[in-house]
Amino acid sequence: MTCVSNMMAGRFIVYLMLWIASVTTDLTCRDLRSVCTCGMKFVWYEGAWKNLAVVNCSSAGLVSIPNFSSLEGQDIDMLILNNNNLTDIPPNAFRNLTVKELVLSRNPLKSIRQNLFAPLKESLKKLELQGVELYIDDGLVFLSNLDQLRALDLGNNHLKNEYGEFTGGIFDGLGLNSLKTLGLRVLKMTKLKEGAFRGLPNLEELDISINYLAEIPGELKNVKNLRVLNMYSNEINILKNGTFDGLSNVESLYFGANEIATIEEGAFAGLEDSLQRINLYHNALTSVPVDAIVNLRKLKMLGFAANNIQTIENGTLVGEYRLEILELDKNPLTYHENMFTGVEDSLTTLFIRENELTTLPLRALRKLKRLSHLDAADNHITEIDKLFFGNLKLSKIYLMRNKISKVDPSAFESHPNGIILDLYKNLLTDISFILKLEVCKFDDVDVSSNPVICDCSIEEILNSGRVAFPINGECSFPEDESKIYRFDSPRLMERLVSSCNRTKQYAFCRPSVYEASSTSRVTVMNVLVTIMTLITYLQPHV
Ligand SMILES: *[C@@H]1O[C@H](CO)[C@@H](O)[C@H](O)[C@H]1NC(C)=O
Ligand SMILES: *[C@@H]1O[C@H](CO)[C@@H](O)[C@H](O)[C@H]1NC(C)=O
Ligand SMILES: *[C@@H]1O[C@H](CO)[C@@H](O)[C@H](O)[C@H]1NC(C)=O
Ligand SMILES: *[C@@H]1O[C@H](CO)[C@@H](O)[C@H](O)[C@H]1NC(C)=O
Ligand SMILES: *[C@@H]1O[C@H](CO)[C@@H](O)[C@H](O)[C@H]1NC(C)=O
Ligand SMILES: *[C@@H]1O[C@H](CO)[C@@H](O)[C@H](O)[C@H]1NC(C)=O
Ligand SMILES: *[C@@H]1O[C@H](CO)[C@@H](O)[C@H](O)[C@H]1NC(C)=O
Repeated sequence: MTCVSNMMAGRFIVYLMLWIASVTTDLTCRDLRSVCTCGMKFVWYEGAWKNLAVVNCSSAGLVSIPNFSSLEGQDIDMLILNNNNLTDIPPNAFRNLTVKELVLSRNPLKSIRQNLFAPLKESLKKLELQGVELYIDDGLVFLSNLDQLRALDLGNNHLKNEYGEFTGGIFDGLGLNSLKTLGLRVLKMTKLKEGAFRGLPNLEELDISINYLAEIPGELKNVKNLRVLNMYSNEINILKNGTFDGLSNVESLYFGANEIATIEEGAFAGLEDSLQRINLYHNALTSVPVDAIVNLRKLKMLGFAANNIQTIENGTLVGEYRLEILELDKNPLTYHENMFTGVEDSLTTLFIRENELTTLPLRALRKLKRLSHLDAADNHITEIDKLFFGNLKLSKIYLMRNKISKVDPSAFESHPNGIILDLYKNLLTDISFILKLEVCKFDDVDVSSNPVICDCSIEEILNSGRVAFPINGECSFPEDESKIYRFDSPRLMERLVSSCNRTKQYAFCRPSVYEASSTSRVTVMNVLVTIMTLITYLQPHV
């Protein structure tokens, strides 16, 4: 406990200092306050909390660019101009500005002047140009020499050539030597030609999702540093032997919503020591591609949701990997005792949504010694009886959108304390099982969208402190079912205590998320960040 509060105090001081720093180095934005908000903001950015100088002119109905001369000489982290009606941006719009990220998405620009971004050459790291009605194959000379640029989003634009071909050489000679992340979603692209990525020697992350690609572009083999490929929603039907030949840094492959029916044995050859995540949801697979994955030593996550897999035979998941996360939702699966052979000692997280289950497939699940997170939402479960979980020891249980109307408290006895339980959209009228278990059995419970009846058990559950976090849900009184009270409503508590005795808090649960783990930091930080954001927000915006 002391350790936690010391940690919190320590962090608090750090954030306080950050905040003081932010106030003293605030942005000054004379003349802009009528159209933009402007100031330091504490935001989650590129995997960390940062205090950023943000000029936000989003959705301000702008038809021309504001005069930014008052921003000269200041370091701006984000200049946001999306969702406006900007057409022609004059050549010195960004003169003398220092901007790390520029967001121009969703403006009817149609074309961009050749030297528009030249003043930002030294500073610009990220440029968002989604949905600006640009014809990409008209050329991108306006990107010339942006050699600090690391991320570029050109999604939701056009290709002028009538076959939807992304031609070769579009980036060639622009000097985009730092570009790591490129977004080319929603371009009605049918082909990505050889040489398309010439001139991008450091490309690592590519998003070509929501296009009409029927083949994996051969050009990918020229993206030597490729780490993440997102090809969600295309028309791929086969992953052929040697598709990623010569690439050895690929960590994540997202092939959801394609038509893949065949994955050849050597499809992932070359990625044995890099590939960690493969998502193949909503394809046409009838079996797990055993031979293609068997040697993937780094593989941690496999997603097969919404395919046509009927059986996973014994030995299917025996490989050189230590799989942690498996998604099997929405397959016509039959479960059996030996289907998880191979991952018994590694799998922690299993998704079995939409499998028409009425009970959990315990004979299969009980082999998973490390299973702690189970998602069986969207099934046909009607009751959590005494033996529902067998001897599973789960800490996160997701059973949303089933038809559960009865819960036997003893079902939860085998699990360690601090469970996160989600029963959103079931048929519970009574949640008194919470009172019949040890205090602090649950960290967090969601029973919202259930026909729960407001009675004295609700009063005790809400006031006792038995559940670490406030319970999410609502109830109605039997005499007036049309009036629904949220559990956090003061009116509900007023009505309850008028007929029940008010329970004095008797349980003081320390949520297990505060224990020294990576999630704890996030949660503790969330609280502080919320406070800081509030305080920052209350500052007058200059
Ligand atoms: C910018 O403003 C828009 C609309 O006012 C808001 O939705 C958005 O979250 C803001 N962005 C940032 C980074 O502050
Ligand atoms: C922008 O404002 C500055 C100072 O207020 C002024 O000198 C400059 O001419 C203005 N620029 C434009 C393009 O109006
Ligand atoms: C954008 O500007 C054009 C004229 O430049 C105008 O016709 C159109 O109505 C404007 N659209 C919006 C959403 O303001
Ligand atoms: C702004 O740019 C102009 C022309 O590029 C230059 O003469 C001037 O010195 C710059 N001002 C500042 C404050 O950098
Ligand atoms: C895959 O291709 C490699 C050479 O590129 C070849 O050696 C291997 O036999 C092929 N495997 C299959 C299953 O076709
Ligand atoms: C299941 O497969 C494993 C290894 O592949 C083997 O050792 C075991 O005997 C098999 N069990 C059954 C019941 O077939
Ligand atoms: C409230 O508490 C009193 C005294 O402890 C007890 O007599 C009474 O029955 C309780 N009422 C309810 C509704 O539990």
